[in-house]
Amino acid sequence: MYLPHKIAELVKDRSFDENTVGMSDSRVFTFDDMVLKVEKHSPESEQVHTMMKWLQGKLPVPKVLASESENGTDYLLMSRAEGQMSCSEEYMLRPDLLTDIMAESLRLLWSVDVSDCPCSNSAQRRLELAEYRVDHGLVDVTECDPETFGSNGFRDPRQLLDWLRDNIPEEEAVLSHGDLCLPNIFVKDGRLSCFIDLGRCGVGDKWNDIAILCRSLRSNFRGEYGGKVYSGYREDMLFERLGIAPDRKKMEYFRLLDELF
Ligand SMILES: Nc1ncnc2c1ncn2[C@@H]1O[C@H](COP(=O)(O)OP(=O)(O)O)[C@@H](O)[C@H]1O
Ligand SMILES: [Mg+2]
Repeated sequence: MYLPHKIAELVKDRSFDENTVGMSDSRVFTFDDMVLKVEKHSPESEQVHTMMKWLQGKLPVPKVLASESENGTDYLLMSRAEGQMSCSEEYMLRPDLLTDIMAESLRLLWSVDVSDCPCSNSAQRRLELAEYRVDHGLVDVTECDPETFGSNGFRDPRQLLDWLRDNIPEEEAVLSHGDLCLPNIFVKDGRLSCFIDLGRCGVGDKWNDIAILCRSLRSNFRGEYGGKVYSGYREDMLFERLGIAPDRKKMEYFRLLDELF
């Protein structure tokens, strides 16, 4: 594969694996201590760079080792997160520990002072990005939850977009990861070690991350990604640890918003 000179110099003849976990069109190559992500230039690929730099020293995130943009493709060479993804078997078999780590992850995100945060993950901003996707037919309804579209749901992505625009909830602003699912949270020795995949990270509603995390926990425990079914997890375990009651309306709003991506 073609690599820009600066990146090629850094990876030289080192051996690597290609990672196939992610759902986006990006390609991810894993070296022993670095990871190279190659993706089409987009608002999200730009936001990753900005946020990874801004978050250094504030949260555990990979270090940017080099980044290049050539012919509409972005190349990001970053340090490799230590430990393993939180959806790995070791943690899926320990739902109490996993829930503790997830609650800690949310609290850590919320503890960051966002007064000079350079990026937004507000519903307004997401809707602007969603509009582009709807206009260009990029929303794949076959990948959505079955209840979202169809007889009891929305007619099509356009109708969902209009509904989301008319129902933006009042924002409880925090640092929002933006795609807080288990494969984007790394764990080592029973503790959170790194947040990755920061293309949507920015100031946003706290319920956005809660909604995505709850869906991710549910799907992973049910084995919906072709994995095993695991037991011992209930959603109220997370809310007990957070000491808050679920806001079902907001969670449904952000679940629906995510369907357009
Ligand atoms: N810095 C990193 N350290 C370790 N693994 C990584 C890193 N970046 C990506 N990965 C691996 O590659 C997968 C996909 O990368 P990610 O950035 O999440 O892309 P996608 O947008 O496709 O979800 C991750 O779930 C993880 O397994
Ligand atoms: Mg990811």
